[in-house]
Amino acid sequence: MISIVLMFVLSYFLGAMVPGFWIGKLFYHKDIRDEGSGNIGTTNSFRVLGPVAGIMTLVLDLLKGTAAGLLPLAFNSTINPMLVGLVAVIGHTFSIWIKFKGGKAVATSAGVLLAYNPQFFCLIATVFIVMLLLTSMVSVSSMVGFSIAVIVSFYYHDMVLTVVAVALTIFVFYRHRANISRIIHGTESTVPFGLYHYL
Ligand code: G3P
Repeated sequence: MISIVLMFVLSYFLGAMVPGFWIGKLFYHKDIRDEGSGNIGTTNSFRVLGPVAGIMTLVLDLLKGTAAGLLPLAFNSTINPMLVGLVAVIGHTFSIWIKFKGGKAVATSAGVLLAYNPQFFCLIATVFIVMLLLTSMVSVSSMVGFSIAVIVSFYYHDMVLTVVAVALTIFVFYRHRANISRIIHGTESTVPFGLYHYL
């Protein structure tokens, strides 16, 4: 019982690590919450601090989700990794280190999916990349990627995967409320990865 509690607590604290915020503070002396979209995730880190910080934030946010998803293996527990990973996603979005605020759940959720089912992760990552090339909008690509994840999850006949994919998708949309408003008003920011930049 104690090891189960410890596993969930560890998962929360893994998720609660906020590399985008810490990298900004430590190496750039900036609080990324005060600039750009104000988000502490990869996109805003890239936007405010540059590509090196953006890539570091992406890798660390993703890996903390993967690490959380692998905790049941490390603890030799039969608890579903997706459930343990969900706690890391909660940690990421309500981080104890930044007054229970946090990111938009994309990279950390993806990291949990990577730990649980690498093939599923690769499919969704491909959808994300294609959408990013088509739209140049990370927010749109993230929301489409998670929506497709729900549909693809049925192929695996895995009830936990489908239920968690639905929960994560609803949560990701909820965390992107401001982005959805900007998309509707045509003011959502883009990143320089779209195909049209090269046409
Ligand atoms: O992962 C967050 C991304 O989808 C949007 O980030 O900073 O443009 O709100 P941002």
